[in-house]
Amino acid sequence: MALQFTLNGEMRQVSSVAPTMTVLDYLREYAELTGTKEGCAEGDCGACTIVLAENVDGKPSYQAVNACLLVVPQLDGKHVITVEGLSDTDELLDPVQDAMVKTDGTQCGFCTPGFIMALYALRQSDEEASDGVIHDALAGNLCRCTGYRPIVEAAREACASAPDNTVLEALSASSEYFEGDQSFYAPTSIAEMADVFAANPEANLLGGGTDLGILVSKEREALATVIHTAHVAELLEIEETDKDITFGAAVTYTEALPFIERLYPSFATMITRIGSRQIRNVGTIGGNVGNASPIGDTPPCLIALDATLALYSKAGERELPIEEFFLDYRKTDLKQGEFIKAIRIPKLSENQEFRTYKISKRYDQDISAVIGAYRIELDGEKVAGARIAYGGMAATPKRGVACEAALIGNSWDLATAMTMLSVVQEDYQPISDHRATKEYRLQVAGNLFQRLYQDLAGVEEALEVVAV
Ligand SMILES: Cc1cc2nc3c(=O)[nH]c(=O)nc-3n(C[C@H](O)[C@H](O)[C@H](O)COP(=O)(O)OP(=O)(O)OC[C@H]3O[C@@H](n4cnc5c(N)ncnc54)[C@H](O)[C@@H]3O)c2cc1C
Ligand code: FES
Ligand code: FES
Repeated sequence: MALQFTLNGEMRQVSSVAPTMTVLDYLREYAELTGTKEGCAEGDCGACTIVLAENVDGKPSYQAVNACLLVVPQLDGKHVITVEGLSDTDELLDPVQDAMVKTDGTQCGFCTPGFIMALYALRQSDEEASDGVIHDALAGNLCRCTGYRPIVEAAREACASAPDNTVLEALSASSEYFEGDQSFYAPTSIAEMADVFAANPEANLLGGGTDLGILVSKEREALATVIHTAHVAELLEIEETDKDITFGAAVTYTEALPFIERLYPSFATMITRIGSRQIRNVGTIGGNVGNASPIGDTPPCLIALDATLALYSKAGERELPIEEFFLDYRKTDLKQGEFIKAIRIPKLSENQEFRTYKISKRYDQDISAVIGAYRIELDGEKVAGARIAYGGMAATPKRGVACEAALIGNSWDLATAMTMLSVVQEDYQPISDHRATKEYRLQVAGNLFQRLYQDLAGVEEALEVVAV
């Protein structure tokens, strides 16, 4: 079956490209649209930003994504917009292009198409373009010459007027695509996915591709069989009850964020630091868990929040507390043909507080050295309950049982928080690598308890008010 999508408004049927060809290679080499640039080829610089559009709940949704990490079948059923699609004459520029020219937002111009597309997506959305939102929308784009002031100015100017959005034509997508000896499956139901995975147990599962995409973009691997989760209806569900919220494994960070913001604000702040909008628009929580990296940001939070995974295969469904999922370095409890269906997170009770802290060299777009996650239940001055987990401190994301035992029943004060520096060493024996030494990791993991104490006591807020 051919893949079909529109490219800058023109319908394309594609039937002869490798299913693991990156969208960036397709655009530049096949479609001859070289406005989209290659910088890093690993999702960091934003030079390859394009926009994918489709109707969501009857409304058009425009999302900036990195073309270097996507493979061509991920475009199936979508409207693809590249910088060439915004305007084809110098006289009639898109408002974003016009603003970039007027504010001198470009010099060598290499990064400019990527910035234009990130801003185009922002302008098409109904978000109010506050400075914080502009910062967030541009955090995935690097410019080495211009400096960000004029680019931010262009964003303010372009987003001051509302775009003219119309409902987009709905396109159908294929559930399988073959080329040469490579196969790409995009099942639409969980039963179909389980069948395909049982028949192809060596297949690579593909969520958003922000981890897996590196294999094709950087390592140039021609994966034989890929099963894409993004069209599986059951994996896209978000279900909320009085007690918990369940995210299907293929729900993206962008989709999950409004729910997480309401229920676990500190977790939401952490998520807004995962990659960039381009990454979060396609990256999934299921992919973060399935990737099983010891420095993935969501697993420590999910362990501390006592989340449960629903795992699914042709043999049926089973549930597993997430802390039992990670067996060893990048080794999980998934059986052959089994995949993550959903992640269920209990809501916080009245006396519970949740905080998470990400320690990395930069605030935006950086991989963590240490992630600390804490669910603390207070009974007056005493700690009645604690669930604690860290990332970056062991071969897997790991619960801190000694830390929990040291807190429960104790007074919740600064003195207790300061004693945790030595307790952390009972739970964790981290390694040194290029992100941090083991001594730094232990020190910072211990120190985070003081931050947690001050944070819950409102000291940080008080300090911020004084600083302003
Ligand atoms: C520039 C950049 C910045 C990043 N920043 C961060 C960061 O700050 N913090 C962080 O934690 N991560 C970060 N990442 C990593 C990545 O974005 C996340 O891990 C993301 O959640 C992966 O989701 P995905 O859907 O893109 O996964 P994919 O790449 O599609 O898949 C990742 C892995 O999970 C498996 N998988 C996918 N779905 C399932 C499923 N349903 N069941 C079982 N296995 C499955 C895949 O087979 C693969 O092994 C970054 C990546 C990039 C490129
Ligand atoms: S080329 Fe740098 S993000 Fe794609
Ligand atoms: S204008 Fe040169 S990299 Fe941005």
